[in-house]
Order: sequence, then C-alpha cells, then structure tokens
Amino acid sequence: MNWNLSNKTALVCGSTSGIGKAIAQAFATSGASVILMARNEEKLRETLDALPTGSGQIHQMIKADFSQPQAPKKALDQWLQSNPNEHIDILVNNTGGPPPGPAHLAKVEEYLNAFNTHLINNHELVQCCLPGMKANGGGRIINVISTSVKIPLNGLGVSNTVRGAVGNWAKTLANELGAFNITVNNILPGATATDRLKGIIDKKSEKSGESKEIVTEKMLSEIPMKRFAEPEEVAAAAGFLASEAASYINGINIPVDGGRTGNL
Ligand SMILES: NC(=O)c1ccc[n+]([C@@H]2O[C@H](COP(=O)([O-])OP(=O)(O)OC[C@H]3O[C@@H](n4cnc5c(N)ncnc54)[C@H](OP(=O)(O)O)[C@@H]3O)[C@@H](O)[C@H]2O)c1
Repeated sequence: MNWNLSNKTALVCGSTSGIGKAIAQAFATSGASVILMARNEEKLRETLDALPTGSGQIHQMIKADFSQPQAPKKALDQWLQSNPNEHIDILVNNTGGPPPGPAHLAKVEEYLNAFNTHLINNHELVQCCLPGMKANGGGRIINVISTSVKIPLNGLGVSNTVRGAVGNWAKTLANELGAFNITVNNILPGATATDRLKGIIDKKSEKSGESKEIVTEKMLSEIPMKRFAEPEEVAAAAGFLASEAASYINGINIPVDGGRTGNL
C-alpha cells in the first residue's frame, strides 16, 4: 500500500492547532510539501518550524482569516500567482467550528457567518485549486466536518445545520469531479482532544452547573471506546484519503469517533 506523499503539495487549512495541525504533521511525515493556512502569524511560524522535512521538502505558510469574506481565496490566489509553477494536489478544508448553542436561539448572523466561514470559503478554495488539479491529472479534496452530518449533536445547532450543507456540497462535487481523477471525501471527527473540545466542555459545564469532570464523564460514557480521540488518530484518516492507497475512494464520510455515532 502506498501512503507516500512525496512530490505532492498539500494546502491544510486551520493547521495551527488541533486536527488541522496533526494533519499537516502527518502529511509532512509522509513526504508532502505542506502549505499551512490559518490567521495567527506567530502560531503559523511555530507550526511551520516544527514540520518534518525528511524528504527534503519545503513547507510554506499563508495567513488568512476565515471569518473575513473571500480572505482565504484572495490569499491563495496571490500565492498561486507568485508561484506560477506550483499547484495544490491535496486540499484540506478545515477551520474552527461555529460557537455552540441551540438552533432555535441562534441569530440569523450566526448562521450566515458559519455558512460563509465553512461552505463559501471551502468552495472558493476548491475553485482556486481545480485548474491546477485538472492540469496535473488529479487531486484530493478532504473536508473536516463532524459526525453531526449523520446524527445532529445536541447543543450544536448552527454547526449541525452548516455541516449538513458542507456534506451535501462535497458529495455533489465528488459526482462532478471524479471524472478528473479528483476525489472529494469528508472526515467526521468524534470528540477529539483539542482546544475546540475544551471549549465545548467548558460551555456545557457553565450551562448545566455540573463540573467539567462530570461533563467529561458523561461524554465519555457515550463513546464505545470510552476515551476521546487524539488529533493524530483523526489525521491518520486524512493521510490515507490523501494517498494513492485511497485512489478509488470518492464521495464518502469517514467517521473517526470511536464508534459513537449510532448509525452506519
Ligand atoms: N475537536 C472535536 O472534538 C471536534 C469534533 C467534531 C468536529 N470538529 C471540527 O473539526 C474542525 C477542527 O477542530 P479542532 O478541534 O481541531 O479545532 P481547534 O483545535 O480549535 O483548531 C482550529 C484551527 O482552525 C484555525 N482557525 C480558527 N478560526 C480561524 C479563522 N477565523 N481563520 C483562520 N483559521 C482559523 C485555528 O487557528 P487559530 O490558532 O488562529 O485559532 C486552528 O488552527 C472544526 O470545524 C471542529 O468544529 C471538532
């Protein structure tokens, strides 16, 4: 099985912490040249400096704020113009999740922001990458979404709604782009030990009055494997999807959730 990503260039969004950072590290370990994209220059620099370069590859970073309309697209367009001989082979769409809260209390702006941050940015980045992928005989588009595309999660109203849209957008793209040897797949992380999860536990504890330990115990009790995922375990699924080993896998969701999602 070939998991090697040498001579591939991967753009990994939201890659200064959590799942995105672990994906960037996994790709670099497999030989890819990684382009990090996130909003904080210092964290970008730190992450960049720590990426493995064992295959002699060069990694780069692009600063862009996903909450600003068109910012990721503009930043990538600029990078592609400055590097006319480069293209993106692997695009990982990922950024911070929408704030938690019930769907019926969410403001219209929260839905619009989340839709722009997640779906529109993903879409614009795909459009930037497609000409290069087509010209080079193929590509991989991997979207980090959530298990909520299968079963909505309580207290994540805006996220559940927007994840569903991203899932259906991705499946439609898979139908359209397979003919170009471009695969489009989604990773659905379960509860993963990152800053995002800490924020969700804090919020649940604040709202319920229960201690963080009790909230954590309750979350763990719903997971057959009785533990949270490490970001590297989620990244392994991305490494597989990006590789030659996954050449005929297209248009699917891969839950990495320790078995938590109660359907197939
Ligand atoms: N962790 C879980 O349990 C879990 C479960 C299901 C789904 N997910 C989803 O998986 C995705 C990644 O989650 P995670 O846990 O890895 O989150 P995380 O640890 O909070 O990391 C998010 C990454 O995205 C970047 N980012 C956030 N907002 C940004 C913005 N406006 N512009 C540019 N970059 C931005 C962050 O960079 P900064 O340093 O600039 O903030 C960071 O690199 C999210 O969509 C999350 O909702 C997570």
